[in-house]
Amino acid sequence: MIPLFLTKYLYLLIFCTLLIVILVYYFAGGFFSKDVPPAPSNPVYKDSAVALEERVADLLSHMTLEEKIGQMALVEKNSIQELSDISTYGLGGLLSGFGGRPDSNTPQGWKNMVSTFVLESRSSRLGIPVLYGVDAIHGHTNVPGATVFPHFIGLGASGDAALVERVANATAQEILATGVNWSYSPTYDMPQDIRWGRVYETFSDDPALVSRLGSAYIRGLQENSSEATSTISILATPKHYIGAGGMTWNSSSNENFTIDQGITPADEDTLRKHYLPPFQKAVETGAMSIMAGLNSWGDTKLAASSYLIQTVLKEEVGFKGFVVSDWYGVYEIPGGNYTAAVTAINAGVDMVMLPFDYKGFVSDVRRAVRNGDIPEERINDAVKRILTAKFKLGLFDTSLAVDPTELGSSAHRALAREAVAQSLVLLKNNSKLLPISQSVGTIRVAGNAADNIGKQAGAWTVEWQGIDGNWLPGATSILQGIQEVAPKNTTIEFDAGGNFAFNSAKADLGIAVVGEAPYAEGWGDTPKPAVSEEDMATIQRLRQSSKKVVVILVTGRPLIITDEIRDWDATVVAWLPGSEGAGVADVLFGRKPFTATLPLPWPASIEQLPISEGTTSDGSAVLFPRYFGLRY
Ligand code: BGC
Repeated sequence: MIPLFLTKYLYLLIFCTLLIVILVYYFAGGFFSKDVPPAPSNPVYKDSAVALEERVADLLSHMTLEEKIGQMALVEKNSIQELSDISTYGLGGLLSGFGGRPDSNTPQGWKNMVSTFVLESRSSRLGIPVLYGVDAIHGHTNVPGATVFPHFIGLGASGDAALVERVANATAQEILATGVNWSYSPTYDMPQDIRWGRVYETFSDDPALVSRLGSAYIRGLQENSSEATSTISILATPKHYIGAGGMTWNSSSNENFTIDQGITPADEDTLRKHYLPPFQKAVETGAMSIMAGLNSWGDTKLAASSYLIQTVLKEEVGFKGFVVSDWYGVYEIPGGNYTAAVTAINAGVDMVMLPFDYKGFVSDVRRAVRNGDIPEERINDAVKRILTAKFKLGLFDTSLAVDPTELGSSAHRALAREAVAQSLVLLKNNSKLLPISQSVGTIRVAGNAADNIGKQAGAWTVEWQGIDGNWLPGATSILQGIQEVAPKNTTIEFDAGGNFAFNSAKADLGIAVVGEAPYAEGWGDTPKPAVSEEDMATIQRLRQSSKKVVVILVTGRPLIITDEIRDWDATVVAWLPGSEGAGVADVLFGRKPFTATLPLPWPASIEQLPISEGTTSDGSAVLFPRYFGLRY
């Protein structure tokens, strides 16, 4: 029991402590600004008839420093502490880190979630709408039921810019249907080392192909087909600027990874000749946002490189859009949070994917401006770039009505099926085993990727690291596709492990569908990408019960198969085809031709890595060169 007179002191103590905390917070420049002007009445920036530049300048002239800094913050939606923080802090962007879903992970659930955030942002003093970003890297695949297109490596194999533009356009429609307005795609990384866990996110290691397909993808996402307007549809973000894909094995700055987030050793000449051209092309095509990578150039984190961002990208290339940093990348710059934010913003990062602590960010950056560590002109320049993109997206002028497109519509699925067929690469075809004869009697299908949509979709599908099994609505597994497309009189038998009754009557053909389990980012870094022992045993069992065997590789990258492929009668690389497995069967049974080629060299051994511009490290010949692909 505390005596009464002590209780009094306790209250006094609590009161004084609270008072001190409030005063310190206020004088240290706590969030609430002392003189926020009232909202302007009938401001020029709200008038859609006024030229874009004028609208941006007008809006900027009304903004307080705090409102400007808020625009530079990009926050993961699960880090928002109070809904009202979106308007209080005037946050510039929100994102769903992959797997950052609404409570009800349905198109309607997404619409409700995003519109709640957008309405909240519009209720701020100046009513600046928030950007909402997702990684729609192979369709709007955060949402179950969306069309899952082949991962970029498959689109790279197709080499078909018109197809890529259509895929991006269909993806844009599915994104729009959920009210989202920004996608962190396409990927411009160029992999030199198949041990990297992000190879499948890339089109190719060839800058010319990346430029061509990347531009097609940007057009497809951004073009606004629904109305005669100069606005863009979905904001595209080529990533990751610059040198990503060329990191050295064992150089990662992340203790869990080996090469992802590592060091790009390329000299400046190589950076400029090899890695820069696709970004130059992206800028010409109309990219309004570019993401800085998590890799380092020498000992400098990309987000800290004023030379690469400010001098090269903005001044030399003439990029007028905004640079967004990647995930927690800014805070990986050494020196603590304050120094990291100052360094990145001064280097030219315009929007910081924090993605967590927006309150700390606003307070640090405001302090930095007051201290003269960040010039106010830099803040104005960053915000001008962000607002320009927002006006260009029509965010200030559109109502919240979202596109009525159905996610996973039959038209989009048909397009995805076409894309799958166009992405398959035929590496080997002894005695013209493929296309499969129309008179084939029995086909035995085996392999743990044959009837597993999670595997064929790969990562960045509902979950960051992907899913296992067949629960994606409306999707077709490769096995189901074979059953659908095979001639009527053909018998299809299936056993994932290839354990068929061993008897003298061998099947006419065995199809083994094997490959990698899903992985994302550095979690997919591996010292030797190969066909697993389990898969090899399955193929072996299938060979014992089938006259000939076709091996279909479901994989995000070339695997080391130099010895193994000798025993296979035919070999097809299906990459990560997505939800429409029937596209594989279309080509196997000759309804469609093989037209795709390898978008990167296929190494014969690990010793050949990295392979830089087609040249192996040990000088030996690769198993298949870039652009190899048999046809029929
Ligand atoms: C990845 C980016 C991605 C971002 C947002 C990061 O981990 O490197 O490519 O856009 O997350 O999800």
